Amino acid sequence: MALSIARDAGKLSAFDGPMLAIPLAEKQELSAELAELDAAIGGAIARSLELRDFRGARDELFHLSGPQSGARRLLLVGMGSAEDRPGALRRAAALASRQAVKLGAGRMGWYSGPVTERDVEAIVTGLAAGAWQYLDLKTPPSDNELRGPLSSVTIFAADTAGTIAGISSGESIAAGQALARTLAMMPGNLCTPEFLASTATDIANRHGMKITVLGRKEMEAEGMGAFLCVAQGTPQAPKLIAIEYSGGSPGEKPVTLVGKGLCFDSGGISIKPAQSMEDMKFDMCGAAGVLGAMEAIGRMKLLVNVVGLIGSTTNMPSGTAVNPGDVVRSHLGKFIEIINTDAEGRLVLADVLSYARRFDPAVVIDAATLTGAVVIALGHTATGIFSRDEGLIGEVIAAGKRAGEPAWSLPLWDEYRELIKSDVADIKNSGGRPAGAVTAAMFLREFTEEYPWVHLDIAGTAYTESDLGTIPKGPTGVPTATFIEFVRGRAN
Ligand code: BES
Ligand code: MN
Ligand code: ZN
Repeated sequence: MALSIARDAGKLSAFDGPMLAIPLAEKQELSAELAELDAAIGGAIARSLELRDFRGARDELFHLSGPQSGARRLLLVGMGSAEDRPGALRRAAALASRQAVKLGAGRMGWYSGPVTERDVEAIVTGLAAGAWQYLDLKTPPSDNELRGPLSSVTIFAADTAGTIAGISSGESIAAGQALARTLAMMPGNLCTPEFLASTATDIANRHGMKITVLGRKEMEAEGMGAFLCVAQGTPQAPKLIAIEYSGGSPGEKPVTLVGKGLCFDSGGISIKPAQSMEDMKFDMCGAAGVLGAMEAIGRMKLLVNVVGLIGSTTNMPSGTAVNPGDVVRSHLGKFIEIINTDAEGRLVLADVLSYARRFDPAVVIDAATLTGAVVIALGHTATGIFSRDEGLIGEVIAAGKRAGEPAWSLPLWDEYRELIKSDVADIKNSGGRPAGAVTAAMFLREFTEEYPWVHLDIAGTAYTESDLGTIPKGPTGVPTATFIEFVRGRAN
């Protein structure tokens, strides 16, 4: 069930509900409004601060029981130094709404003092992220054990145009992120290439976008030997999905978003070990990010032209699968030697990136759970960024920062080209273990020479193998918000 966001410009002390969340930074004094609320509950907040039971440290949660009427529960949420205020608010909001879901509060109030439009947007995206759950495949508990979902949050904020706009854009971004997380969480037997195509069609129809879906036959006609060699081992129908959104002026070059959509990656003939192989249902998080961004962009009606492209298939071993040593001809015409069939994402993307040329893009930004090596380089904290264009790197890092999705750049120097030279073809699809994230990006670079391009390796950031507090084990929504923020930065 969707979380509805309301606002209240009235007095905080008049709040009446099952739970009130109050984010506080370190060493933050109680405002007059909070002091008034505190007085009504016998000074419990001030005492907790005085006793240092609650210090406002980042991610600190402190639960107080309130009176019979008014705020029945009070949740103090620490924001640490809160230097990046929207970021701190987003995080606190996610923690608070997740706690509200756990307690079955149903409704929640939120008070964080005076807020800007950006603050409100961050609060709304945080609240929605923390309340997100994927319950479709769980039998609901019996009525007496059932805890109701968090259905609404009331934000105490002044009645300004900024507040209203912040709620609206926050809800759009949240819808995009929720869609991306749901698609990612769905198991591979449900979230198939066909399902991604029908989801894309639904988005396009609801927002008046143009949709094109190429199947195996159409891709054969296009000469997409790189994409198709990955798909030749699976009986499932591969899909190349193109969504065109025209919010800008006609003729204006589109921002083009590209996503890797491997609905399951077994490795193919170069099969992966069984350990954690189930996580390879997440190998479509780039595609999920494209769809989530298109959903949000459609809702926000951004004044910009955007194309979303997805290459989707599964990577399976079989008698018809591509073999190591095989050479295929890509859509661009370059011949590729397959060294490792598990380096399939770059093969799919090579042809999608080549196909992107026909949209005459202003810029192409691709996101892919491309390499285990990027996790070794940057861990689960930052997305890896690669581009020939320093300006573009800065633009994407800044967008990611505003979106709460940190990213950092790795080199894309000609020296690394050596590692993917082939004995028999133009290029090979694996350069081995050294600089694995870089050589994967270098491979993509070969197919992106005709337009400004930036690549995001999200293998470490698109999903989490452990509970992060704000987000449970599973998909994080990365790179949806970065895509949206980047596109918004390019809008008129
Ligand atoms: N989808 C994987 C990358 C991946 C690994 C994503 C771990 C998320 C977590 C990709 O298709 C892959 O298998 N890459 C290989 C490339 C290698 C064979 C050159 C890898 O990283 O091991
Ligand atoms: Mn693989
Ligand atoms: Zn993969």
